This record gives sequence, structure tokens and C-alpha cells, in this order.
Amino acid sequence: MSALPGSAEGTAVTGLDSSPVEPAAADLPPLTEQVRLEAREIIARYPQPRSALLPMLHLVQSHQGYVSPEGVALCAEELGLTKAEVGAVATFYTMYKRRPTGRHLVSVCTNTLCSVLGGQRIFDALSADLGVHHDETAADGSVTLEHAECLAACDYAPVVTVDYEFYDQQDVESARALVAALRRGEKPHPTRGAPLTDFRGISRQLAGFDQYGGADARAAAIDAEGSIGPTLAGLRLAAERGESAPPLPGRPPAEDAEPAGTEPRETTRPSGRTGETPEEEAADARVASADTPAERAGAAQTHPDKGAEYGQPRGRQRAGTENPPAAEPATGTSPPVSPSPNPPRADGKA
Ligand code: FES
Repeated sequence: MSALPGSAEGTAVTGLDSSPVEPAAADLPPLTEQVRLEAREIIARYPQPRSALLPMLHLVQSHQGYVSPEGVALCAEELGLTKAEVGAVATFYTMYKRRPTGRHLVSVCTNTLCSVLGGQRIFDALSADLGVHHDETAADGSVTLEHAECLAACDYAPVVTVDYEFYDQQDVESARALVAALRRGEKPHPTRGAPLTDFRGISRQLAGFDQYGGADARAAAIDAEGSIGPTLAGLRLAAERGESAPPLPGRPPAEDAEPAGTEPRETTRPSGRTGETPEEEAADARVASADTPAERAGAAQTHPDKGAEYGQPRGRQRAGTENPPAAEPATGTSPPVSPSPNPPRADGKA
């Protein structure tokens, strides 16, 4: 079936109206020839045309505010896919909207940690202020409100994003003030990161296009240094208490472990490993990111340290897979390694 699910044609075929996208509004700006040229520019970035679908859908949203039937058709034509295939992708990911969005997309995390700290109360307050529920747009077209699953910023909970920019540690009043400002046409600066744009602007960025008018505007959008205070709270507490993580069984304490009571470092090594050249680290990353055994084997063939246990720190690698690793001598407080799956009990009983 080549009909877009939910379209009149698709409904006629299946008898079901799943309505993945709404029909185009009368005042929706058409997708011009320029949009088609931009779509082809995206396609040219990839070895396989269909790999361009995700940014192309963002491109459609940047012009029409959602994945319209016209946008689905354009992507299908340019990529040689069916509209059903494009529709299946567009309806899988929550970042692709099935109905026109407002000027801004406000996402309130109501996942576990944010919810415990007030995320649901924030959502309910904004819902009442805007007169909308999940995935609905205020009557003035200013804001679309949505529940969001974990936004990967739990240490700043409860978090709200506007057009995917973070507003950390919100409460009901601060979130209401934020949305009120958006409705007045203001763009409050996010807690961290680039300045706020709008939903269509951020969609254009996600499609891989520069939305800034010139070098100065672009420079102003460069990420500000983020505050990572909450992220390090656990480390600071552990340092105050003189606590540290126990070493892994059979392994000596990390060579670069901070002595108890030392102020935690604010940065970590990009790879988190030690003693490797950049080439080895890059090769490790290629092996680690392989999706299939065949890809992994291929990546391993080009690894500068063939035969190593890729991704492990140098000096901690097994000599091969046929022989089990020799037990390393226990040092410090490391517990001894027992070769038995049922080590003897401390009280001597079986
Ligand atoms: S639970 Fe809200 S960011 Fe993770």
C-alpha cells in the first residue's frame, strides 16, 4: 500500500483512520521549489539517499510547522520511497509533529524524577493557563504544550524545554512566568546553551541549515558554558565524606583516582581511558559503535592494536579469548579473586 496512513486514500484501503497527520490548513505556506532544492542538498550529504529522511522531515517542519501530507509526499518523491514508508518514520518519532505547532514548543518533563519534584504540577498549571492538553496549541498560536519523557537532564529536575532549549530547575511559578513571556513575544534566555529561537528555527537547525543571518549572529548562538553544579553534587558529597567507589573485583584501584577529600575535577577525559593514542581511541570508538558482529570484525581489522580487548585501558587487556585472564594480585583493599563459582564461606560451612 502506497497511501499515507491516515489519508483518505489510506483509510479507503485499510478501513481504519489512524490519522497520523492532519490535512493541510488552508493558509499553510506551500513547499516551494527552494524547499525541494534544500531537500536535495540534504540528500547529497549521505551515501544512501534514504538516510536523509530524518533531516528532511525537520526541513518540512521548518517551513510548515509540522509534517504535512505535502511534506510527506515531497520526501517520498525525492527519496524514491512510498508515502507509507515516510509516514511510518514520521509517526514513530515524537519530534515529528502530526498537526501544526505553535510558534514555540513547550515540553514539560513528567518522567519519574521531574514528576517527583513537581513536573506534573508544572504541566497541570501550564495546561490550565493555556487552555490546552498534551500536544495541543493555545488558541493564539503562541505555544504548543506537551508532556515529555526524560529529557536527559535529571540532575536539573524539574526541567522544561522550549524548542528543545533547557530551562532548568523550574517550579510552577517560574514555568508560568516563562510561558507568559513567550506569549508576549519575548524569548527568555535558556539556563544554558544557545539563545532561544522558535520551533521552525530550531527545526531548520535540526535539518542541518544555519538559521543565523551572519557571522555575528552565529557567534552569539554558540553554546555558553553550562553550569554543571548539580551534576557534580554526588561527587562533592563523596569527597566531603572521604568516600570513593570500591575497585572492581580483581583490579587495582584506578591509577588516576583522586585521594579522598580532593575536590572533584570539573572535567573528564573525552574517552575516559588512559594511556592511548588518539588513533587508538578513535579505533576503539569505531569498534564499540559497530552494530553487527561483521561490522565489529571489520573495524577490528583496522585497529592499530589488533587482538586487544578493544575499549579497555592499555595494560588491562586479555592476551586472547582461549585462556581466561590471569588473576591480578590483590592490592590495597581489593578483594581476592576466587576461581570457584562457589567460593568458600567465611564461617567455613559448605
Ligand atoms: S526525569 Fe526529567 S529529565 Fe530525567
